[in-house]
Amino acid sequence: MLGQPISITTPIYYTNDKPHIGHAYTTTVCDIYARFQRFAGHDVFFLTGTDEHGQKVEKSAAARGITPQQLADENAAEFQRVLAVFGISNDDFIRTTQPRHERQVQALVRRLIDSGAVYQGTYTGWYDEGQEEYVTETKAKELNFKSPISGKPLVRANETNYFFRLSAYQKRIEDHFAAMPDFVRPEARRNEVLGRLREGLQDVPITRTNFTWGIPVPGDEKHVIYVWIDALFNYITALGLGAPGSDECNARAKYWPATYHVIGKEILWFHAVIWPAMLMALDIALPRCVYAHSFWISEGQKMSKTLGNFIDLPTIQRYHSTYGLDAWRYYMATQGPLGATDADFAAAHFHDIYHSDLVNTVGNCASRVTAMIGKYFDGVVPQSGLDDSPRPAPGDSPGAKWVIADYDWPQLAAQAVQRGNDAMNKLDLAGSLAQGLGLLRKVDGFINATEPFKLAKDPANQPKLAAILYQCAEAVRIASLLLWPAMPGKMEDLWKALGQEAGGGGQRSEIRGQGAGGATLAALAQWGGLKPGTKVQKIALFPRVEASPVQAVSA
Ligand code: MSP
Repeated sequence: MLGQPISITTPIYYTNDKPHIGHAYTTTVCDIYARFQRFAGHDVFFLTGTDEHGQKVEKSAAARGITPQQLADENAAEFQRVLAVFGISNDDFIRTTQPRHERQVQALVRRLIDSGAVYQGTYTGWYDEGQEEYVTETKAKELNFKSPISGKPLVRANETNYFFRLSAYQKRIEDHFAAMPDFVRPEARRNEVLGRLREGLQDVPITRTNFTWGIPVPGDEKHVIYVWIDALFNYITALGLGAPGSDECNARAKYWPATYHVIGKEILWFHAVIWPAMLMALDIALPRCVYAHSFWISEGQKMSKTLGNFIDLPTIQRYHSTYGLDAWRYYMATQGPLGATDADFAAAHFHDIYHSDLVNTVGNCASRVTAMIGKYFDGVVPQSGLDDSPRPAPGDSPGAKWVIADYDWPQLAAQAVQRGNDAMNKLDLAGSLAQGLGLLRKVDGFINATEPFKLAKDPANQPKLAAILYQCAEAVRIASLLLWPAMPGKMEDLWKALGQEAGGGGQRSEIRGQGAGGATLAALAQWGGLKPGTKVQKIALFPRVEASPVQAVSA
């Protein structure tokens, strides 16, 4: 295994909701990163799960006349089922009602009480029921006493709670931000946190007594642990860190600190300030980066069930059946709100990107190259002839059509892989995939410049033609490796068409990109991996979709 273990997490999702584009998005982003890193040879742990306690779940269950556990079981099963629908390769799925989690949360809270980081006191203030979040007096005034998310009135709260001594961590948190400029990304989000930090930290209540659906405070069971505190702990309970010395901890402690906590921007404060302070209080290392993406809106407007523009699971599945799962994943990765601004999910835009990037670039290039090898070399990869490939000869005009000196393929391919890797390490999914697409565009340009279809007319050009088509096929193969984390199904089809057994190293049978005999990206991306003599089949990867049926259905 390469270097340090890598771990990536999604937020754990509330079980009073059904999976929609927001959940699918964050989870897919993490999946593409995890697959890439496994393929790159790292030991990866990718965690997702469900957040099952709290008042919201209790209320939704009551409204349906079932127990909160029944509601949680039902929806957690649904969240787990849809992971397969989205092609997600998570290593674990944590549920906050699992005994492994509950036991460790109690132990961790016990440690916080014993160390004095948590104490008893009285809280008077405002509470956002929908968000299960306490709101300071100043903030409540600013918000006109309404939830910024649900629009519902904030409720007055006055109760005895256990408090976390957040105020004591002001300086340490600020110092951490100063020392680790990449602790919160993107930059705009980091600046927001810094701004709010300057207002000063206040201690926060971490228990509730007005409902029971939660983990009891050890030794004082009429209090339940605030759902947010319970939930944040999932990132370490899944690794057994709340039970030092346990088998689970021994096996998984290596995955902490998390490389990335990927979350939506609305839950950044908890992850960027409260969570690190809790970890400091427990003397546990902080995650390396909290990455807060922005939101999908839909057809230019905030998603809402009443507007009818909500991208729910049935809508997503219409996209899958029209364009395919991999096209959906590619769109999530390249057009999504990973940056500081929201992204618009629009049916027409989806349709355009599908055609421009996947049909006309990836699909077209793969089919052109495999078709020409079929036509001119009976479907057998010709000798590369790289060393004696046509080069500008002294007497040639520089613009001679077959001159390919501009295209130093081994170098172009190595550069794309290096850049794709660098971008992915920064969670720049679009940047990484653009390297794969860029290589294919280069192949297209090369074909247009060298015109193999014209060369083919004269048998004397056979060696040049062979060199050109070898280089095209080899570049397509290497590009496909870079596109694999986002589009594993389609790229494995392409590998098969290029005669690559099990992706050249076990990737097909072991879809997670690691595993028995699985060669790494770097090994597979070596120029020359495609052997002359290999049988190649013509392939049509992405069929054209005439109108946008999804648009017609959702309109
Ligand atoms: N349970 C908490 C998180 C606890 S983490 C310790 C929670 N759950 S949630 O079910 O509401 O999921 C919120 C997450 O869903 C967001 O942080 C984001 O990852 C994703 N999204 C929800 N709506 C979204 C969009 N419209 N766009 C993109 N992602 C959004 O909060």
